[in-house]
Amino acid sequence: MSNKQHPDDGRSSGWSGRFSEPVDELVKLYTASVDFDRRLAQADIEASRAHARMLGATKVLSPEDVAAIERGLSTILGEIERGEFTWSRDLEDVHLNIEKRLVALIGDPGKRLHTGRSRNDQVATDLRLYLRSAVDAIAASIKRLRHALLDLAEKHAETIMPGFTHLQVAQPVTFGHHLLAYDAMLSRDAQRLAECRKRINLLPLGSAALAGTSFAIDRERVAQELGFDGLCSNSLDAVSDRDFAIEFAAAAALIMMHLSRFSEELVLWSNPRFGFVRLADRFCTGSSIMPQKRNPDVPELVRGKSGRVFGDLIALLTVMKGQPLAYNKDNQEDKEPVFDIVDTLGPTLAIMTDLIAGGIEADAARMRAAASEGFATATDLADYLVRKGVPFRDAHEVVAQAVRHAESEHRDLSELPLASLQRFSSLIGEDVYVVLTLEGSVASRAHPGGTAPEQVRAAIRAARASLGSG
Ligand code: ARG
Repeated sequence: MSNKQHPDDGRSSGWSGRFSEPVDELVKLYTASVDFDRRLAQADIEASRAHARMLGATKVLSPEDVAAIERGLSTILGEIERGEFTWSRDLEDVHLNIEKRLVALIGDPGKRLHTGRSRNDQVATDLRLYLRSAVDAIAASIKRLRHALLDLAEKHAETIMPGFTHLQVAQPVTFGHHLLAYDAMLSRDAQRLAECRKRINLLPLGSAALAGTSFAIDRERVAQELGFDGLCSNSLDAVSDRDFAIEFAAAAALIMMHLSRFSEELVLWSNPRFGFVRLADRFCTGSSIMPQKRNPDVPELVRGKSGRVFGDLIALLTVMKGQPLAYNKDNQEDKEPVFDIVDTLGPTLAIMTDLIAGGIEADAARMRAAASEGFATATDLADYLVRKGVPFRDAHEVVAQAVRHAESEHRDLSELPLASLQRFSSLIGEDVYVVLTLEGSVASRAHPGGTAPEQVRAAIRAARASLGSG
Protein backbone atom coordinates (compact mmCIF):
# COMPACT_ATOMS: atom_id res chain seq x y z
CA MET A 1 0.00 0.00 0.00
CA SER A 2 2.95 2.37 0.30
CA ASN A 3 3.38 4.97 -2.39
CA LYS A 4 7.05 5.54 -3.09
CA GLN A 5 6.54 8.42 -5.47
CA HIS A 6 4.20 10.48 -3.36
CA PRO A 7 4.47 9.49 0.25
CA ASP A 8 2.55 12.54 1.48
CA ASP A 9 0.02 13.15 -1.21
CA GLY A 10 -3.05 12.26 0.76
CA ARG A 11 -3.45 9.02 -1.15
CA SER A 12 -1.86 7.26 1.78
CA SER A 13 -5.42 6.94 3.03
CA GLY A 14 -5.92 3.39 1.87
CA TRP A 15 -5.91 3.11 -1.89
CA SER A 16 -2.75 4.95 -3.05
CA GLY A 17 -0.56 2.32 -4.71
CA ARG A 18 -2.41 2.36 -7.99
CA PHE A 19 -1.76 6.02 -8.79
CA SER A 20 1.15 7.95 -10.23
CA GLU A 21 0.19 11.49 -9.28
CA PRO A 22 -1.43 13.09 -6.28
CA VAL A 23 -5.12 13.73 -6.22
CA ASP A 24 -6.09 17.18 -7.41
CA GLU A 25 -6.87 19.52 -4.49
CA LEU A 26 -10.27 20.40 -5.86
CA VAL A 27 -11.10 16.74 -6.46
CA LYS A 28 -10.10 15.99 -2.90
CA LEU A 29 -12.44 18.67 -1.59
CA TYR A 30 -15.19 17.67 -3.98
CA THR A 31 -15.12 14.00 -3.12
CA ALA A 32 -14.48 14.20 0.62
CA SER A 33 -17.48 13.43 2.79
CA VAL A 34 -15.93 13.51 6.24
CA ASP A 35 -17.39 16.94 7.03
CA PHE A 36 -20.82 15.35 7.18
CA ASP A 37 -20.38 11.59 7.42
CA ARG A 38 -18.45 11.89 10.66
CA ARG A 39 -21.91 11.72 12.19
CA LEU A 40 -21.69 8.02 11.46
CA ALA A 41 -18.58 7.60 13.62
CA GLN A 42 -20.25 5.82 16.49
CA ALA A 43 -22.03 3.41 14.17
CA ASP A 44 -18.81 2.88 12.22
CA ILE A 45 -16.90 1.94 15.35
CA GLU A 46 -19.66 -0.33 16.60
CA ALA A 47 -19.79 -2.14 13.25
CA SER A 48 -15.98 -2.42 13.07
CA ARG A 49 -15.88 -3.94 16.52
CA ALA A 50 -18.46 -6.56 15.57
CA HIS A 51 -16.62 -7.28 12.33
CA ALA A 52 -13.29 -7.73 14.14
CA ARG A 53 -14.79 -10.00 16.78
CA MET A 54 -16.37 -12.12 14.08
CA LEU A 55 -13.05 -12.38 12.22
CA GLY A 56 -11.53 -13.51 15.52
CA ALA A 57 -14.23 -16.13 16.02
CA THR A 58 -13.69 -17.52 12.52
CA LYS A 59 -9.92 -17.50 13.09
CA VAL A 60 -9.21 -15.07 10.29
CA LEU A 61 -7.67 -12.74 12.90
CA SER A 62 -5.69 -13.77 15.95
CA PRO A 63 -7.09 -13.09 19.43
CA GLU A 64 -4.25 -10.59 19.96
CA ASP A 65 -5.18 -8.68 16.81
CA VAL A 66 -8.81 -8.55 17.85
CA ALA A 67 -7.92 -7.37 21.34
CA ALA A 68 -5.69 -4.63 19.91
CA ILE A 69 -8.41 -3.54 17.50
CA GLU A 70 -11.01 -3.38 20.26
CA ARG A 71 -8.69 -1.36 22.45
CA GLY A 72 -7.84 1.00 19.61
CA LEU A 73 -11.47 1.49 18.64
CA SER A 74 -12.46 2.35 22.23
CA THR A 75 -9.67 4.88 22.41
CA ILE A 76 -10.88 6.45 19.18
CA LEU A 77 -14.50 6.53 20.35
CA GLY A 78 -13.35 8.34 23.49
CA GLU A 79 -11.36 10.83 21.43
CA ILE A 80 -14.35 11.52 19.22
CA GLU A 81 -16.74 11.90 22.14
CA ARG A 82 -14.41 14.32 23.89
CA GLY A 83 -13.94 16.29 20.68
CA GLU A 84 -10.24 15.48 20.61
CA PHE A 85 -10.22 13.53 17.38
CA THR A 86 -8.53 15.24 14.43
CA TRP A 87 -10.66 14.82 11.33
CA SER A 88 -8.84 15.15 8.05
CA ARG A 89 -10.35 15.84 4.65
CA ASP A 90 -7.28 14.27 3.14
CA LEU A 91 -8.59 11.01 4.52
CA GLU A 92 -11.83 11.47 2.61
CA ASP A 93 -14.48 9.99 4.85
CA VAL A 94 -15.35 8.82 8.33
CA HIS A 95 -14.24 5.26 7.58
CA LEU A 96 -10.73 6.10 6.41
CA ASN A 97 -10.25 8.69 9.17
CA ILE A 98 -11.00 6.11 11.82
CA GLU A 99 -9.00 3.37 10.17
CA LYS A 100 -5.97 5.59 9.77
CA ARG A 101 -6.10 6.57 13.42
CA LEU A 102 -6.46 2.93 14.41
CA VAL A 103 -3.29 2.05 12.50
CA ALA A 104 -1.48 4.97 14.13
CA LEU A 105 -2.57 3.71 17.55
CA ILE A 106 -2.03 -0.05 17.21
CA GLY A 107 -0.02 -0.65 14.03
CA ASP A 108 -0.46 -3.80 11.93
CA PRO A 109 -3.58 -5.21 13.61
CA GLY A 110 -5.28 -1.98 12.58
CA LYS A 111 -4.40 -2.70 8.96
CA ARG A 112 -6.00 -6.14 9.27
CA LEU A 113 -9.42 -4.79 10.30
CA HIS A 114 -10.47 -4.22 6.69
CA THR A 115 -10.06 -7.94 5.86
CA GLY A 116 -13.19 -9.31 4.23
CA ARG A 117 -15.04 -6.03 4.01
CA SER A 118 -15.21 -2.92 1.87
CA ARG A 119 -16.24 0.62 2.53
CA ASN A 120 -19.26 -0.22 0.40
CA ASP A 121 -20.79 -2.68 2.84
CA GLN A 122 -19.32 -0.69 5.71
CA VAL A 123 -21.11 2.55 4.85
CA ALA A 124 -24.38 0.76 4.14
CA THR A 125 -24.13 -0.86 7.57
CA ASP A 126 -23.29 2.41 9.29
CA LEU A 127 -26.19 4.24 7.70
CA ARG A 128 -28.61 1.51 8.73
CA LEU A 129 -27.36 1.57 12.31
CA TYR A 130 -27.62 5.34 12.40
CA LEU A 131 -31.12 5.37 10.91
CA ARG A 132 -32.33 2.64 13.22
CA SER A 133 -31.64 4.76 16.27
CA ALA A 134 -32.95 7.89 14.54
CA VAL A 135 -36.20 6.07 13.78
CA ASP A 136 -36.48 4.92 17.38
CA ALA A 137 -35.99 8.47 18.64
CA ILE A 138 -38.55 9.83 16.18
CA ALA A 139 -41.04 7.11 17.12
CA ALA A 140 -40.65 8.09 20.78
CA SER A 141 -41.20 11.75 19.88
CA ILE A 142 -44.36 10.89 17.97
CA LYS A 143 -45.61 9.04 21.02
CA ARG A 144 -45.05 12.09 23.21
CA LEU A 145 -46.81 14.30 20.70
CA ARG A 146 -49.75 11.91 20.58
CA HIS A 147 -50.06 11.86 24.35
CA ALA A 148 -50.16 15.67 24.36
CA LEU A 149 -52.79 15.68 21.62
CA LEU A 150 -54.93 13.14 23.44
CA ASP A 151 -54.77 15.14 26.67
CA LEU A 152 -55.91 18.27 24.85
CA ALA A 153 -58.60 16.33 23.01
CA GLU A 154 -59.92 14.97 26.31
CA LYS A 155 -60.15 18.47 27.71
CA HIS A 156 -62.21 19.46 24.71
CA ALA A 157 -64.34 16.37 24.19
CA GLU A 158 -67.44 18.58 24.45
CA THR A 159 -66.15 21.87 23.10
CA ILE A 160 -68.09 22.70 19.98
CA MET A 161 -66.49 24.26 16.93
CA PRO A 162 -67.45 24.47 13.29
CA GLY A 163 -66.16 21.67 11.11
CA PHE A 164 -65.18 22.92 7.66
CA THR A 165 -65.24 21.76 4.11
CA HIS A 166 -63.84 24.13 1.49
CA LEU A 167 -62.94 26.23 4.54
CA GLN A 168 -66.66 27.09 4.78
CA VAL A 169 -68.58 26.19 7.92
CA ALA A 170 -70.01 22.73 7.26
CA GLN A 171 -71.26 20.92 10.37
CA PRO A 172 -70.57 21.30 14.06
CA VAL A 173 -67.88 19.04 15.49
CA THR A 174 -66.19 18.83 18.83
CA PHE A 175 -62.72 20.31 19.12
CA GLY A 176 -61.62 17.03 20.69
CA HIS A 177 -62.79 15.17 17.60
CA HIS A 178 -60.93 17.58 15.35
CA LEU A 179 -57.72 17.05 17.33
CA LEU A 180 -58.20 13.29 17.12
CA ALA A 181 -58.01 13.56 13.34
CA TYR A 182 -54.34 14.47 13.80
CA ASP A 183 -53.87 11.61 16.20
CA ALA A 184 -55.17 9.28 13.51
CA MET A 185 -52.58 10.66 11.09
CA LEU A 186 -49.80 10.32 13.63
CA SER A 187 -50.83 6.79 14.40
CA ARG A 188 -50.37 5.89 10.73
CA ASP A 189 -47.05 7.73 10.78
CA ALA A 190 -45.90 5.59 13.67
CA GLN A 191 -46.97 2.43 11.84
CA ARG A 192 -45.09 3.49 8.73
CA LEU A 193 -41.93 4.11 10.73
CA ALA A 194 -42.23 0.72 12.41
CA GLU A 195 -42.64 -0.93 8.99
CA CYS A 196 -39.69 0.92 7.57
CA ARG A 197 -37.57 0.00 10.60
CA LYS A 198 -37.96 -3.68 9.70
CA ARG A 199 -36.32 -3.09 6.34
CA ILE A 200 -33.66 -0.82 7.81
CA ASN A 201 -32.70 -3.46 10.32
CA LEU A 202 -30.97 -5.94 7.99
CA LEU A 203 -27.22 -6.40 7.77
CA PRO A 204 -25.33 -5.58 4.56
CA LEU A 205 -21.88 -6.35 6.04
CA GLY A 206 -20.29 -9.41 4.46
CA SER A 207 -21.19 -8.21 0.98
CA ALA A 208 -17.78 -6.53 0.81
CA ALA A 209 -17.32 -4.46 -2.35
CA LEU A 210 -20.19 -6.12 -4.22
CA ALA A 211 -19.61 -9.85 -4.67
CA GLY A 212 -19.08 -11.05 -1.13
CA THR A 213 -15.77 -12.21 0.27
CA SER A 214 -13.58 -15.29 0.09
CA PHE A 215 -12.78 -15.13 3.80
CA ALA A 216 -14.53 -17.27 6.34
CA ILE A 217 -17.14 -14.92 7.69
CA ASP A 218 -20.12 -15.39 9.97
CA ARG A 219 -22.69 -12.83 9.00
CA GLU A 220 -25.30 -14.15 11.41
CA ARG A 221 -22.97 -13.50 14.28
CA VAL A 222 -22.34 -9.92 13.20
CA ALA A 223 -26.07 -9.36 12.68
CA GLN A 224 -26.82 -10.63 16.14
CA GLU A 225 -24.13 -8.57 17.82
CA LEU A 226 -25.34 -5.42 16.09
CA GLY A 227 -29.00 -6.12 16.81
CA PHE A 228 -30.03 -6.63 13.19
CA ASP A 229 -33.08 -8.82 12.59
CA GLY A 230 -31.50 -10.57 9.62
CA LEU A 231 -29.18 -10.34 6.62
CA CYS A 232 -29.47 -8.47 3.35
CA SER A 233 -29.98 -11.37 0.97
CA ASN A 234 -27.97 -10.32 -2.08
CA SER A 235 -24.53 -8.78 -1.95
CA LEU A 236 -25.00 -6.58 -5.02
CA ASP A 237 -28.27 -5.22 -3.68
CA ALA A 238 -26.91 -4.89 -0.15
CA VAL A 239 -24.18 -2.42 -1.09
CA SER A 240 -26.31 -0.38 -3.45
CA ASP A 241 -29.76 -0.46 -1.86
CA ARG A 242 -30.95 2.77 -0.30
CA ASP A 243 -34.66 1.95 -0.36
CA PHE A 244 -34.67 1.98 3.40
CA ALA A 245 -33.48 5.59 3.44
CA ILE A 246 -36.05 6.56 0.84
CA GLU A 247 -38.83 4.86 2.79
CA PHE A 248 -37.70 6.72 5.86
CA ALA A 249 -37.72 9.98 3.91
CA ALA A 250 -41.20 9.24 2.60
CA ALA A 251 -42.49 8.47 6.07
CA ALA A 252 -40.85 11.67 7.32
CA ALA A 253 -42.37 13.69 4.47
CA LEU A 254 -45.82 12.46 5.47
CA ILE A 255 -45.20 13.38 9.10
CA MET A 256 -44.14 16.87 8.08
CA MET A 257 -47.13 17.18 5.76
CA HIS A 258 -49.43 16.31 8.66
CA LEU A 259 -47.75 18.74 11.01
CA SER A 260 -47.86 21.37 8.29
CA ARG A 261 -51.61 20.96 7.93
CA PHE A 262 -52.04 21.26 11.68
CA SER A 263 -49.81 24.33 11.65
CA GLU A 264 -51.86 25.89 8.91
CA GLU A 265 -54.93 25.45 11.09
CA LEU A 266 -53.16 26.97 14.07
CA VAL A 267 -52.21 29.97 11.97
CA LEU A 268 -55.82 30.40 10.90
CA TRP A 269 -57.34 29.71 14.30
CA SER A 270 -55.01 32.06 16.10
CA ASN A 271 -55.78 34.85 13.68
CA PRO A 272 -58.09 37.27 15.52
CA ARG A 273 -60.68 36.93 12.73
CA PHE A 274 -61.10 33.32 13.79
CA GLY A 275 -59.99 33.70 17.38
CA PHE A 276 -60.48 29.99 18.10
CA VAL A 277 -57.18 29.62 19.92
CA ARG A 278 -54.56 31.77 21.50
CA LEU A 279 -50.97 30.65 21.20
CA ALA A 280 -48.96 31.33 24.32
CA ASP A 281 -46.60 34.29 24.08
CA ARG A 282 -43.56 32.05 24.26
CA PHE A 283 -44.53 30.54 20.91
CA CYS A 284 -45.07 33.87 19.18
CA THR A 285 -42.81 36.66 18.05
CA GLY A 286 -43.32 40.34 17.43
CA SER A 287 -42.55 42.51 14.48
CA SER A 288 -39.57 44.83 14.38
CA ILE A 289 -41.67 47.58 12.84
CA MET A 290 -45.33 46.97 13.75
CA PRO A 291 -45.68 47.12 17.52
CA GLN A 292 -49.11 45.50 17.57
CA LYS A 293 -48.01 42.27 15.86
CA ARG A 294 -48.07 38.85 17.44
CA ASN A 295 -46.97 36.36 14.84
CA PRO A 296 -47.43 32.60 14.94
CA ASP A 297 -43.84 31.96 13.85
CA VAL A 298 -43.61 28.44 15.19
CA PRO A 299 -46.45 26.92 13.16
CA GLU A 300 -45.40 28.99 10.17
CA LEU A 301 -41.91 27.55 10.35
CA VAL A 302 -43.19 24.02 10.74
CA ARG A 303 -45.23 24.62 7.59
CA GLY A 304 -42.20 26.06 5.86
CA LYS A 305 -39.83 23.33 6.94
CA SER A 306 -42.01 20.62 5.46
CA GLY A 307 -40.62 21.69 2.09
CA ARG A 308 -37.07 20.75 2.97
CA VAL A 309 -38.09 17.24 3.95
CA PHE A 310 -40.07 16.79 0.72
CA GLY A 311 -36.96 18.02 -1.08
CA ASP A 312 -34.79 15.52 0.77
CA LEU A 313 -37.08 12.72 -0.38
CA ILE A 314 -36.82 13.82 -4.00
CA ALA A 315 -33.04 14.19 -3.64
CA LEU A 316 -32.73 10.60 -2.43
CA LEU A 317 -34.93 9.21 -5.18
CA THR A 318 -32.89 11.11 -7.73
CA VAL A 319 -29.58 9.92 -6.28
CA MET A 320 -30.72 6.37 -6.95
CA LYS A 321 -32.62 6.54 -10.19
CA GLY A 322 -29.72 6.41 -12.64
CA GLN A 323 -27.37 4.08 -10.82
CA PRO A 324 -26.29 0.81 -12.40
CA LEU A 325 -25.50 -1.94 -9.92
CA ALA A 326 -23.75 -1.97 -7.59
CA TYR A 327 -22.09 0.78 -5.54
CA ASN A 328 -21.42 4.14 -7.15
CA LYS A 329 -20.05 7.25 -5.56
CA ASP A 330 -23.47 8.83 -6.09
CA ASN A 331 -24.46 6.97 -2.94
CA GLN A 332 -22.34 9.30 -0.88
CA GLU A 333 -25.06 11.90 -1.56
CA ASP A 334 -27.52 9.87 0.50
CA LYS A 335 -26.28 11.15 3.83
CA GLU A 336 -26.98 14.85 3.89
CA PRO A 337 -30.68 14.48 3.03
CA VAL A 338 -31.03 11.81 5.71
CA PHE A 339 -29.29 13.98 8.31
CA ASP A 340 -31.34 16.99 7.26
CA ILE A 341 -34.54 15.04 7.79
CA VAL A 342 -33.44 13.89 11.23
CA ASP A 343 -32.39 17.42 12.15
CA THR A 344 -35.69 18.85 10.96
CA LEU A 345 -38.08 16.23 12.25
CA GLY A 346 -36.71 15.89 15.78
CA PRO A 347 -37.03 19.55 16.78
CA THR A 348 -40.31 19.94 14.88
CA LEU A 349 -41.93 17.10 16.80
CA ALA A 350 -40.54 18.41 20.07
CA ILE A 351 -41.78 21.96 19.58
CA MET A 352 -45.21 20.82 18.41
CA THR A 353 -45.45 18.67 21.53
CA ASP A 354 -44.64 21.65 23.76
CA LEU A 355 -47.08 23.81 21.88
CA ILE A 356 -49.92 21.33 22.22
CA ALA A 357 -49.07 20.39 25.79
CA GLY A 358 -49.29 23.92 27.12
CA GLY A 359 -49.15 26.55 24.43
CA ILE A 360 -52.68 26.48 23.09
CA GLU A 361 -55.64 28.04 24.82
CA ALA A 362 -58.97 27.36 23.14
CA ASP A 363 -61.66 30.04 23.13
CA ALA A 364 -64.76 27.87 23.39
CA ALA A 365 -67.12 30.85 23.10
CA ARG A 366 -65.57 32.00 19.83
CA MET A 367 -65.65 28.48 18.43
CA ARG A 368 -69.27 28.08 19.41
CA ALA A 369 -70.26 31.43 17.94
CA ALA A 370 -68.61 30.51 14.65
CA ALA A 371 -70.39 27.16 14.60
CA SER A 372 -73.76 28.82 15.02
CA GLU A 373 -73.17 31.24 12.18
CA GLY A 374 -72.94 29.17 9.05
CA PHE A 375 -76.19 27.11 9.13
CA ALA A 376 -74.06 24.29 10.43
CA THR A 377 -77.10 22.25 11.44
CA ALA A 378 -78.77 22.34 8.02
CA THR A 379 -77.85 18.68 7.45
CA ASP A 380 -79.44 17.83 10.78
CA LEU A 381 -82.71 19.38 9.61
CA ALA A 382 -82.55 17.35 6.40
CA ASP A 383 -81.87 14.18 8.41
CA TYR A 384 -84.86 15.09 10.64
CA LEU A 385 -87.13 15.23 7.62
CA VAL A 386 -85.74 11.94 6.33
CA ARG A 387 -86.67 10.35 9.63
CA LYS A 388 -90.19 11.67 9.07
CA GLY A 389 -90.36 9.86 5.74
CA VAL A 390 -89.10 12.49 3.24
CA PRO A 391 -86.58 11.09 0.69
CA PHE A 392 -83.14 12.59 1.35
CA ARG A 393 -82.85 14.44 -1.97
CA ASP A 394 -86.24 16.14 -1.36
CA ALA A 395 -85.31 16.94 2.23
CA HIS A 396 -82.08 18.51 0.93
CA GLU A 397 -84.09 20.80 -1.32
CA VAL A 398 -86.55 21.78 1.41
CA VAL A 399 -83.72 22.71 3.75
CA ALA A 400 -81.88 24.65 1.05
CA GLN A 401 -84.98 26.83 0.72
CA ALA A 402 -85.29 27.22 4.47
CA VAL A 403 -81.62 28.30 4.64
CA ARG A 404 -82.18 30.81 1.89
CA HIS A 405 -85.08 32.28 3.82
CA ALA A 406 -83.17 32.34 7.11
CA GLU A 407 -80.27 34.04 5.39
CA SER A 408 -82.51 36.78 4.07
CA GLU A 409 -83.77 37.29 7.62
CA HIS A 410 -80.21 37.29 8.99
CA ARG A 411 -81.12 34.51 11.39
CA ASP A 412 -79.95 30.99 12.08
CA LEU A 413 -82.31 28.09 11.34
CA SER A 414 -82.76 27.53 15.06
CA GLU A 415 -83.93 31.14 15.41
CA LEU A 416 -86.82 30.80 12.96
CA PRO A 417 -90.24 30.43 14.59
CA LEU A 418 -91.95 27.10 14.08
CA ALA A 419 -94.56 28.66 11.79
CA SER A 420 -91.95 29.85 9.31
CA LEU A 421 -90.15 26.51 9.37
CA GLN A 422 -93.43 24.78 8.71
CA ARG A 423 -93.87 26.83 5.53
CA PHE A 424 -91.15 24.62 4.07
CA SER A 425 -92.53 21.35 5.36
CA SER A 426 -95.63 20.55 7.34
CA LEU A 427 -93.78 17.58 8.84
CA ILE A 428 -91.68 19.92 10.98
CA GLY A 429 -92.78 19.93 14.61
CA GLU A 430 -91.74 21.45 17.92
CA ASP A 431 -89.18 18.66 18.39
CA VAL A 432 -87.09 20.15 15.55
CA TYR A 433 -85.35 22.59 17.87
CA VAL A 434 -83.46 19.84 19.66
CA VAL A 435 -82.09 18.78 16.31
CA LEU A 436 -81.16 22.30 15.35
CA THR A 437 -78.98 22.90 18.41
CA LEU A 438 -75.23 22.42 18.12
CA GLU A 439 -75.20 20.04 21.08
CA GLY A 440 -77.98 17.96 19.56
CA SER A 441 -76.14 17.82 16.27
CA VAL A 442 -72.82 16.54 17.66
CA ALA A 443 -74.52 14.21 20.17
CA SER A 444 -76.43 12.53 17.37
CA ARG A 445 -73.23 11.42 15.61
CA ALA A 446 -72.64 8.74 18.16
CA HIS A 447 -71.18 5.89 16.10
CA PRO A 448 -67.53 4.84 16.20
CA GLY A 449 -65.48 7.52 14.45
CA GLY A 450 -68.20 10.13 15.04
CA THR A 451 -67.91 13.50 16.74
CA ALA A 452 -70.23 12.86 19.74
CA PRO A 453 -68.43 13.56 23.03
CA GLU A 454 -68.90 9.97 24.22
CA GLN A 455 -67.29 8.69 21.01
CA VAL A 456 -64.45 11.17 21.35
CA ARG A 457 -63.78 9.84 24.85
CA ALA A 458 -63.94 6.26 23.61
CA ALA A 459 -61.50 7.07 20.80
CA ILE A 460 -59.12 8.69 23.28
CA ARG A 461 -59.24 5.62 25.50
CA ALA A 462 -58.54 3.36 22.53
CA ALA A 463 -55.65 5.52 21.33
CA ARG A 464 -54.12 5.63 24.80
CA ALA A 465 -54.42 1.88 25.12
CA SER A 466 -52.65 1.40 21.80
CA LEU A 467 -49.88 3.78 22.86
CA GLY A 468 -49.18 1.96 26.10
CA SER A 469 -48.01 3.87 29.12
CA GLY A 470 -44.54 4.93 27.90
N1 ARG B 1 -17.77 7.82 1.63
C1 ARG B 1 -18.30 6.77 0.83
C2 ARG B 1 -19.82 6.89 0.81
O1 ARG B 1 -20.35 7.61 1.52
C3 ARG B 1 -17.93 5.45 1.41
C4 ARG B 1 -17.92 4.33 0.41
C5 ARG B 1 -16.80 4.53 -0.51
N2 ARG B 1 -16.69 3.46 -1.42
C6 ARG B 1 -16.07 3.60 -2.59
N3 ARG B 1 -16.04 2.58 -3.35
N4 ARG B 1 -15.51 4.72 -2.97
O2 ARG B 1 -20.51 6.28 0.04
